[in-house]
Amino acid sequence: MRTWVAPGRVNIIGEHTDYNEGFVLPIALPLVVRCAAAARADGQARVVSRQRPGEPVLVAVSELAAQRERVPGWSRYPLGVIAGLVQGGHRIPGVDLVLDGAVPIGAGLSSSAALSCAVAIALRDLFAPSLTDRALIDLARAAENDYVGVPTGLLDQSASMLCTAGHALFLDVRALAADPLSAARGVAYEQIPFDLDRFGLELLVIDTGQPHELVHSGYAERRAHCARAATELGVAALRDVASTAVLDRIRDDVTRRRARHVVTENARVLAVAKKLRGGADPREVGPILTAGHVSLRDDFEVSTPALDAAVAAALTAGAYGARMVGAGFGGSAIALVDRERTAAVVAAARKHLAAAGFADPRTFVVVPSAGAHAVG
Ligand code: GLA
Repeated sequence: MRTWVAPGRVNIIGEHTDYNEGFVLPIALPLVVRCAAAARADGQARVVSRQRPGEPVLVAVSELAAQRERVPGWSRYPLGVIAGLVQGGHRIPGVDLVLDGAVPIGAGLSSSAALSCAVAIALRDLFAPSLTDRALIDLARAAENDYVGVPTGLLDQSASMLCTAGHALFLDVRALAADPLSAARGVAYEQIPFDLDRFGLELLVIDTGQPHELVHSGYAERRAHCARAATELGVAALRDVASTAVLDRIRDDVTRRRARHVVTENARVLAVAKKLRGGADPREVGPILTAGHVSLRDDFEVSTPALDAAVAAALTAGAYGARMVGAGFGGSAIALVDRERTAAVVAAARKHLAAAGFADPRTFVVVPSAGAHAVG
């Protein structure tokens, strides 16, 4: 068996902008899902996960679509990727997959995209070598959208496939979606050096451990509000709204605030990208990250009291900026801190969360890491 890995991500800035055809700026995490894979000749797909010992799944490749409802939820990610390849006309003679995930699940760090991308790159190398990275992003996303049934945007899969070590990925989602060749040409995205170490900084992840049960219904509802706002404003997507001034035309207050988050968040991505591109001290982007949190909390209303407490504690303990990451409704926050202050920020977050009656968070420092690749 050969092995491939794909990482989870944190988004530095640009939350809930991807499905509004806007901008995002993720890094890949050093935490990955490993996928060992080998072809088999009997037409069967067998999937084993080290996180689900004793739950091997065996399905005929020709039966994948029909068996969707019957296979365990976790296996729909890998099986959805196989189903997508078959649907796209690729011949899969059968395959063995052994999965081992180190990206915390439900933490807003994209464990699901890491899983589907690890499987997608493995299957490409085994059965469909002509597929581009761009095609793998679509394949992984389609597995999540169609086979698992979660309506994600393009952020997570793009980050897992395209990020490189030492860089943040500036991605124009509209350009990527509109032009399949844009990824290959580097038109839709740009690798921006993000070297925190050089500035004595660290990026701390604070995983509140809060299950994000509401995420599916809440996420779909946010998407619907954004689509409604775009329709009311007569634009193709909220990406096309350059200034908050026109938002007064939206009658419903909730819809207006949802739109305001997206419009201001796109501007924040552009501002952060500009600063980092120009070689600025990353401390300068801290307040922009915190403004992103405030917007997600007040306008988009996807934060939680535990995330707000983690962010407040980090800022009080000296973080330059802090914000929740991912879809929200639970999960993780990030904080940009001086290396010497990391331990103090961790202690403050733990104390603050405990005092407010929340679970002890899991904390770790991350560095911008490599996207999906073969390891042997
Ligand atoms: C989830 C989705 C992404 C994106 C983020 C919010 O991670 O999978 O597509 O919409 O939420 O930025």
